[in-house]
Amino acid sequence: MYLKENIRDTSDARPCCEYRGRFLTDDPVTVEGYWNSESYKKLRELFNKRIMPHECQVCIDDEKNGIVSKRQDFNKDFYNEAKYFYDNKLTECPPPLYYDIRPSNYCNLECVMCNPHNSSSIDDRYRKYEDKSFFLMDDVYNGTHDDGWVDYLHKNAEHIRKVCYAGGEPLLMPQVINSINWQVDNGYSENVDLKFLTNATIFRSKWVDLFTKYKRVEFNLSIDGIGDTIEYVRFPTKWKVVEKNLKLFKELNDKYDNIDVKVIPTIQLLNFVGFHKLVNLTKTSGFKIDVTPVYHSQDKDYLHFTRLTQDIRKREVDLIRKELEDYDPKEHNFTEDMLISLEHNDFGLGEDHHLFPQIVKFWDSYNPRKFLDTFPYLDYLLKDSNSFKESA
Ligand SMILES: C[S@@+](CC[C@H](N)C(=O)[O-])C[C@H]1O[C@@H](n2cnc3c(N)ncnc32)[C@H](O)[C@@H]1O
Ligand code: SF4
Repeated sequence: MYLKENIRDTSDARPCCEYRGRFLTDDPVTVEGYWNSESYKKLRELFNKRIMPHECQVCIDDEKNGIVSKRQDFNKDFYNEAKYFYDNKLTECPPPLYYDIRPSNYCNLECVMCNPHNSSSIDDRYRKYEDKSFFLMDDVYNGTHDDGWVDYLHKNAEHIRKVCYAGGEPLLMPQVINSINWQVDNGYSENVDLKFLTNATIFRSKWVDLFTKYKRVEFNLSIDGIGDTIEYVRFPTKWKVVEKNLKLFKELNDKYDNIDVKVIPTIQLLNFVGFHKLVNLTKTSGFKIDVTPVYHSQDKDYLHFTRLTQDIRKREVDLIRKELEDYDPKEHNFTEDMLISLEHNDFGLGEDHHLFPQIVKFWDSYNPRKFLDTFPYLDYLLKDSNSFKESA
């Protein structure tokens, strides 16, 4: 917000990837004017008064649940700079040091917790879906990719300390490899940390030589489960492919001092059961694991883990605890507070429960694995809430 630019296109550049809601709606946005736009200055004024707006709810919730939030993580990474802006309360800032670039929504997957705005495959699917009364969020993505932001980054390259590429799937995007080539060719890479959020279905052996030219490269692999679980929640992932890529990423991690790889699963209604198997896999394969709950998908709460009954959650958290007994605490982000909230937060169907049959019908329309065959223990979520309350 003072140091980091979060970029997709001119209609949806936001102060952070977790920022909930639209930003810059009143400003005439240009790439050049964005960083010190009125919207940005107003937001910095709030932070200067030590107020976290409700759009920052994901960090607020994480911190409440004992999870290190993006805000805290970032402030730790850029401690001196964050302290400078904290103390000096500026509203106009020098060019960003850290760019989070999402050049497009181009993606090969249709993860259940994602949306058309982030995945072209979900966008395509939804456009073909006959039931247009359905709620899928489709009002934000305008189908264009604005490379003006990449030019802006290059223009300010002398200030760059870190660039994160996400999307969509960054390892599939020509804008990403072009920008990396540009940074290497122009001598900036050795001062830059590179970060990727990737779905681990792709491994780019031809890019490895470029990675060695960077100060540091961090791969964050979004792997939300193993076997059938990942194949459902991150459709059409093939587990065998991810398994093979995990080995390649591990070799990369072990071979190059400047390359670090970790696994960053989300945890939610559909991958909670069996999550301990993923924890076991990362532990035994020597990966760090950083878990984040899904609070909202498409701004709705139908995948929240509190929709799982507490007896199921207790059983699963016990299994996770067992795995953690010999997992180096520096290698995972589970805290006691987080485990307690995963296990004990009150059960509730949530505000958007009534929409659940619609989203299940949507998933069942294309996924050969049908919802109830895959998650028979969730049948209560497809009964109407009144009959559930009566039988509960
Ligand atoms: C939108 S993806 C883009 C990068 C890449 N395609 C990937 O999956 O890693 C960025 C991250 O957001 C996570 N994510 C997707 N939907 C989410 C949600 N509703 N709540 C929290 N995290 C979510 C993904 O698991 C991934 O780690
Ligand atoms: S791989 Fe990433 S961008 Fe693609 S659908 Fe999944 S979470 Fe969304």
